[in-house]
Amino acid sequence: MTATIIDGKAFAENLRGRISSHVARLKAEHGVTPGLAVVIVGSDPGSQVYVASKARLTVEVGMHSEKYELPEATSEAEVLALVARLNADPAIHGILVQLPLPPQIDSNAIIALISSDKDVDCFTPASVGKLTIGLPGPVSCTPLGCLMLLRETLGDLSGLEAVIVGRSNLVGKPMAQLLLRENCTVTVAHSRTRNLAEVVRRADIVIAAVGRPNLIRGDWIKPGATVIDVGINRVPAPERGEGKTRLVGDVDFASAVTVAGAITPVPGGVGPMTIACLLANTVTTASLIHGLVPPRDLTA
Ligand code: GUN
Repeated sequence: MTATIIDGKAFAENLRGRISSHVARLKAEHGVTPGLAVVIVGSDPGSQVYVASKARLTVEVGMHSEKYELPEATSEAEVLALVARLNADPAIHGILVQLPLPPQIDSNAIIALISSDKDVDCFTPASVGKLTIGLPGPVSCTPLGCLMLLRETLGDLSGLEAVIVGRSNLVGKPMAQLLLRENCTVTVAHSRTRNLAEVVRRADIVIAAVGRPNLIRGDWIKPGATVIDVGINRVPAPERGEGKTRLVGDVDFASAVTVAGAITPVPGGVGPMTIACLLANTVTTASLIHGLVPPRDLTA
């Protein structure tokens, strides 16, 4: 068997097209241009690439984009002051502080200051609380992107066994909340889980989000399962030449593709969905800030 490849890139392109239409309508009918501010501290190459594509795609869908690139040695007080300024800026409807932050900065203190009206990442304690108890509010971008791909692939997820490998605040925990909402039976596995391969083998849906290149192999996967690979790991690729690298996921794609029913590639799977969902969340916060009904059809 060879799995269906889930084309996150194409799905995200389509979503961005629909976002562009909403942005055009917000501008023409209400004089509102959604604005997204992205803050990055330091020079982590992965984060730099990610932030550059966020800024480019924000502009491409017609939104206002601001990018703040601060040096590695920036103090916590300076980042707090920037977030406070962005909270008060009427041109900005979404604030994203790229994680991880350098060690001198307490991420929790920064996140706690982001206005929950502008929390497009769904990182603040208020947003996480709403997501957990099922109140309306933002939904974390990467888990939302994964969910959209799952719904597109499987339709109704009710009753399915989902195993999430990784318990981060960014992906694993919010993903568990979203899949519970979909009536899945959810297991969150992590580095201390015993018999990880056996646990993963139970899953109709595998979400891999641990940051360990090629950890999950084909023989861990139940035949026909849907595999969503959130990992983006840069590994040496001597076959491409000396010093060259390539991106791989947390799933060993070559073996998994022969067993799974459907699988996301890396790159071109979840990554583009994360950014598209960030833009969709910014349309939602801009609408709500201006007292307008947010579009329902973007991420439904
Ligand atoms: N670092 C890696 N992924 C993300 C994300 O989705 N949002 C933020 N703020 N930082 C990240």
